[in-house]
Amino acid sequence: MNSPTRYAEALLTGMLGTFGLNLKYVRAERNSLYYLDESGTEVPVLDLVGGWGSLMLGHNHPEIVAHAKELLDTGVPVHSQFSEHPTADRVGAVLNGILGREFPGAEPYPVIFANSGAEAVEAAVKHCEFDRVLRVKSLFEQVEWNVDAAVRAVGDGSARLPDDTSLLPGDVPVPTTAEEFGALLGAVAAHNIGLAGTSPVFFALERAFHGKLLGSTQFTFNPTFRAAFASLGLPVTFVPPNDAAALESALAEHRLAALDVEVVDGRVTLVERPFPVVGGLIVEPIQGEGGIHALTPEYAARVREICDAAGCPVVIDEIQTGMGRTGKFFASSHIGLLGDYYLLGKSLGGGIGKTSAMLVRQSRYRPEFELVHSSTFAKDGFTTAIALRTLELLEADGGAAYDLAAERGERVLGVLRELAEEYPDVVLDVRGKGLLIGLEFADQSQAASPVIREKAAAGLLVFLIGSYLQLVHRIRTGPTASVPNMLRIEPSIHLTDAEIEQLRTGLTAVCEILRHQDALPLIHPLTGAAGQPREIQDFRTPQAEAAAPEPAAPAEPAAHKVALVSYPLTPDTLRELDPSLADLDDAALLAYVQRSELLKDLPATPPVRYTSPQGASVDLTVYPLLVSQHQLRAYRTTGQTFLIGLDLDRRVRAAKADGHETVGIGFGLGTVSGHGGALRVPGVTVTAGSTLAVGATLAALEQPALARFGDLAGLTVAVVGGGGRVGSALAALSAEYVARIVLVGSGREGSAERLRATEHRIYQDAWTRIAAGGELSGIAAALSAEPLVTKWLADGRSGDEPSAAAIAAHLADSYDVNPFVVATDDLAEVRNAHAVLAAHSSPVPVLAEKHLAQGAIVADLSFFGTGAESAIVTGRDDLLYIRGGVLSVAEDTILPRGFNGPLNTGELLAGTAEAIVLALSGAGGTLSEGAITQERVHAIIDLAQQHGFEAIST
Ligand SMILES: Cc1ncc(COP(=O)(O)O)c(C=O)c1O
Repeated sequence: MNSPTRYAEALLTGMLGTFGLNLKYVRAERNSLYYLDESGTEVPVLDLVGGWGSLMLGHNHPEIVAHAKELLDTGVPVHSQFSEHPTADRVGAVLNGILGREFPGAEPYPVIFANSGAEAVEAAVKHCEFDRVLRVKSLFEQVEWNVDAAVRAVGDGSARLPDDTSLLPGDVPVPTTAEEFGALLGAVAAHNIGLAGTSPVFFALERAFHGKLLGSTQFTFNPTFRAAFASLGLPVTFVPPNDAAALESALAEHRLAALDVEVVDGRVTLVERPFPVVGGLIVEPIQGEGGIHALTPEYAARVREICDAAGCPVVIDEIQTGMGRTGKFFASSHIGLLGDYYLLGKSLGGGIGKTSAMLVRQSRYRPEFELVHSSTFAKDGFTTAIALRTLELLEADGGAAYDLAAERGERVLGVLRELAEEYPDVVLDVRGKGLLIGLEFADQSQAASPVIREKAAAGLLVFLIGSYLQLVHRIRTGPTASVPNMLRIEPSIHLTDAEIEQLRTGLTAVCEILRHQDALPLIHPLTGAAGQPREIQDFRTPQAEAAAPEPAAPAEPAAHKVALVSYPLTPDTLRELDPSLADLDDAALLAYVQRSELLKDLPATPPVRYTSPQGASVDLTVYPLLVSQHQLRAYRTTGQTFLIGLDLDRRVRAAKADGHETVGIGFGLGTVSGHGGALRVPGVTVTAGSTLAVGATLAALEQPALARFGDLAGLTVAVVGGGGRVGSALAALSAEYVARIVLVGSGREGSAERLRATEHRIYQDAWTRIAAGGELSGIAAALSAEPLVTKWLADGRSGDEPSAAAIAAHLADSYDVNPFVVATDDLAEVRNAHAVLAAHSSPVPVLAEKHLAQGAIVADLSFFGTGAESAIVTGRDDLLYIRGGVLSVAEDTILPRGFNGPLNTGELLAGTAEAIVLALSGAGGTLSEGAITQERVHAIIDLAQQHGFEAIST
């Protein structure tokens, strides 16, 4: 097995590489990360990702670094678990001081330390549940006490029996005896025990992000991060943010009551007690990963009221918003939302340490929690000391850092708002507070530029923009976890005016690019092309589109839906696809495609309608793969065609998920997928068009051959790749007309056996025809004169009798050189052929000029149907070159622009045509699976003609 070339998250790193974002940074300082260019010189990049918000003070803040060194130099005890932790305690004290300042009158909040944000979230959830379980316990103890008191009161006559049992489920009679009273209390206990097993319910907000560990991921709204793990996690109910009524009714839905007894006016009375089933509500004061959405003060006030009424603790996740990022230490203090829990992380580690903290309101705090929850590294001596110094730096000069965050943030926001005003067509919204900022671009999934449109539809627009900003303007921005069109900006408080202007310049260029729909500047830095790209040009209405409008998307769906997994791209098709790329040369475009290897699934195109001359219609949708022919060749050369198989499988499944039952794949891609058969997607007919390609090629050959050679009967046909599925069919069908077949194999393992199988197929077909009687032609006619065959005829041998091996043996005995079929791996044999059919799967041409007889016809179905052999015929006027597997159609454009491969208008590859024909005729699997027989070829050619497709001989 090959070893991976990279061990740490190779896929992710590879995907980042698609956008040139996989730089190796070697140094970091303030708001800059540095990488080395080819000459070894440090190149600074303005880092606005800011460690996903963990760098309030910037990279490697000198005072924190100095403190860290000092701590290590003086041998600070990093790990002294099970001892007193004075520094952790001081961090708690500072945090409490800040809390008291921002929420005057707040109770103390004991602190539990953890190592990451998600861990703090989970510690809070655990604590909520611990607290709930203890509340359930004390409720039941209270009930037990009350029941005991009631029993005693009834026993000593100080209380009468209950006269109302309506609170109990079922028909429990009003007790008249001590025994019946006992039964009633049993029913109360049963009801309560039933409640005890109820799972807790937690609430979170739609769009929330709270981490990706087993528990926290269930509080993260985006199903991408949550869904696969749902069966492992807690039941979490999501409610819309800023909608108090929704929260109130969601909580009401989970209201449960335990039963208790009380002695009221001398009578035992059944009463309900609220049963604590709600674990808690967790909120971010400003949703970060969810797209920078703030909670309103009105909502905050109602949350507090509603949760107090329902006994629901409020957990405030300040992991991203806290530490002063928004201009106050706690973002919740902007909206006056006092939490029962606060969570901090990210910048608490000062950009060096990894630590987080959960603070719990004293009156809710369960000290016993400390005995059941711990983590080896939490509250270690080194990191807590770094956290303390970080807090000191933030708190210095009366909290100047918070004011700076607010001021710098306003300045950045001002720039972004100006851009939004200047480019309302490009910038949808600018949101943020302090240094937690998001810029949302308008949806580009319908953009004029296909490159921009495709990236947007794939949810990758911000990566493309981020790539441009990074590679051209040396600015690093991040995406958010859940909003595909948003750039996230979270710099440190030390952001300079010059850096803000650098951002303005970069974003202005982005806005110009998007406004003018010019993809070239975005792609250029990914191509390795030297120099600067040309000036931005206007491609809002591409010229090609003006000249030849895209076929209109159909209004009503057609009766049939056909998907096409798109053919490999050439630089020309790319340029045709997006005219803004016209100035990029082949090498640059291929480099871009190569880079996109891990993200090659382009979004499906809108459907295009084809109406057959028979009147029936199909809607065609292309599922493109951004793969060049060069790459396919490379896969083939390096023995990695399985990669193509995987791609095809994925795309066919996507097409099926969109309701397609027939899928065409590029002709020749069939060699990788077993002609569609190896793509085992149930319920879908997949065709590479091989049957139609064989039929169309032979049909295309007939007239030119007659014109050149007068008659077919005396011809020799060579089939290069004669052992393959297509080659075998071409040979067998040609044998019906011509005198001699030369089968050429690759010489690779198994090739001789495959050629022999084709040879035998020819003999068997011939014998079957001979035995059937009637007029004979081709090899059957010649064989019928052989003594063995005449004897068989005389004996009345059946046409079905397996006869190929006997014929082969007979011919071997009778002739030095087989006069009918030659199987060889020597290309020199081709020299005797009048017609050469190239049906091999070699990624490089195998025929050379010297192999071709004067005046020969070459029909090329070689490598992926792309004409690997076309080069040899240039410079030989005597040869006639026919592109195999290409059909003509009356309509100019069937496929969306850019997806018709290297074909001319009015032409179509057999894979597409066969898929359409199969869908229109309902022939499905019957014609696309199994060996390519004469009957099948004729049937599909007939159907193709009926539906408007003709073989072409150019
Ligand atoms: C609000 C919020 N909560 C929790 C987390 C999880 O933090 P961590 O990645 O340190 O586990 C994040 C991370 O971005 C966050 O933004």
